Amino acid sequence: MSKKKTETLLSRDEPKERNVHSHIAPLYLSSTYIYPSVDEAQEIFKGRKKGHIYGRWSHPNAELVEEKLEAMQAKKNTKALLFSSGMAAIAAVFQALIKPGDKILVQGNIYGTTVDYLNHFSAQTGFESVFADLKKMNEVEALFKKHKFKVLYCETPSNPTIACYDLEKLSSIAHKNGAKVIVDNTFATPLLQQPLNLRADFEIDSSTKFLNGHGTGISGAVIGADKNFMEKDLWKIRKLNGSIISPMDAWLLNLGMKTLSVRMEKHCSNAMKVAEYLSKHKAVKSINYLGLKSHPDHKLAAKQMCGFGGVLSFELKDGYKAALKLMKHVKLCHLTASLGTTDTLIQHPASMSHYFVPKKQREEFGITDGLVRLSVGLENAEDIIEDLGRAMR
Ligand SMILES: Cc1ncc(COP(=O)(O)O)c(C=O)c1O
Repeated sequence: MSKKKTETLLSRDEPKERNVHSHIAPLYLSSTYIYPSVDEAQEIFKGRKKGHIYGRWSHPNAELVEEKLEAMQAKKNTKALLFSSGMAAIAAVFQALIKPGDKILVQGNIYGTTVDYLNHFSAQTGFESVFADLKKMNEVEALFKKHKFKVLYCETPSNPTIACYDLEKLSSIAHKNGAKVIVDNTFATPLLQQPLNLRADFEIDSSTKFLNGHGTGISGAVIGADKNFMEKDLWKIRKLNGSIISPMDAWLLNLGMKTLSVRMEKHCSNAMKVAEYLSKHKAVKSINYLGLKSHPDHKLAAKQMCGFGGVLSFELKDGYKAALKLMKHVKLCHLTASLGTTDTLIQHPASMSHYFVPKKQREEFGITDGLVRLSVGLENAEDIIEDLGRAMR
């Protein structure tokens, strides 16, 4: 080949093999991938050989984290796919499973935007969501006798009431009736609870939260027991919707996950100390933390999870006014609607994360005006307790 002119040289990256062995996984920002030969390109396009084609289909940064999520699972042969947000992950699974006219059974006290999504799209697409208390197994059985549900949707621990749901029992009822089970596992992460090992079909995590752990990206994961469905149906929806995680978010997620186990240990032990303090405070009417023996779901959580998590909620005796006063007076706890970061975050579901859920629907499932949610961080627990105590005076 003749020597190229300057503009030609500058405008191209030659795809040459470089003898570089990066210690930390590199960030691949390239939107497309070059093939060594026409034959190899054909093999990859036809799905006969593994390889990356285009960043909306797959990319090495997503693949690296997906492989880690699969390796974490006790259940064999699972497949993980990463999405641009937790909501994109939830929406993709519904899109893959639900058709107009279908019915789904949904736990009442779940993340507000999931309720908003179901209310909005069931009206638009013509499926029906039946919200119920999934603790009452007789009621669940009766609902399955009355309706032909395609899906049972559960979130455990629930946001923000921190209730724990019996995944083995619910999966057994759902499967007996031909329904798939989807579990939002965001509060637990696959480290503390593995829904697929408890017979659910899909685990969903908003990896924006504890999995990333540093508040530096938005992403979501779906882990599925049916590898074929994941690789063909769900992967196709992700490709067509263009909802894959970005390389940068996947790279940051991988970095965050390296410390997941040490972070979760400290989140859990700090949350326990704060919960014990709040359980004795005179301004607190009730406290929701699965680690407390007084929590009605403590025994179930101890059996189903291997740690009680870093999130708790508590109801103030003086309701809405007291909740807002607490939010105004905290100094260490950051007032923000997210959770799972290294610092302690406080929020008021009725006026923030669950504001879009109709008041009647919200209150029916325990999301009252006086409820405050705390995502307990990695600070010294005494400092968190001191901040809350001072703000509640
Ligand atoms: C339990 C739960 N599921 C799903 C989501 C949605 O995740 P994302 O914000 O990454 O879309 C959230 C967000 O707060 C959540 O708390």
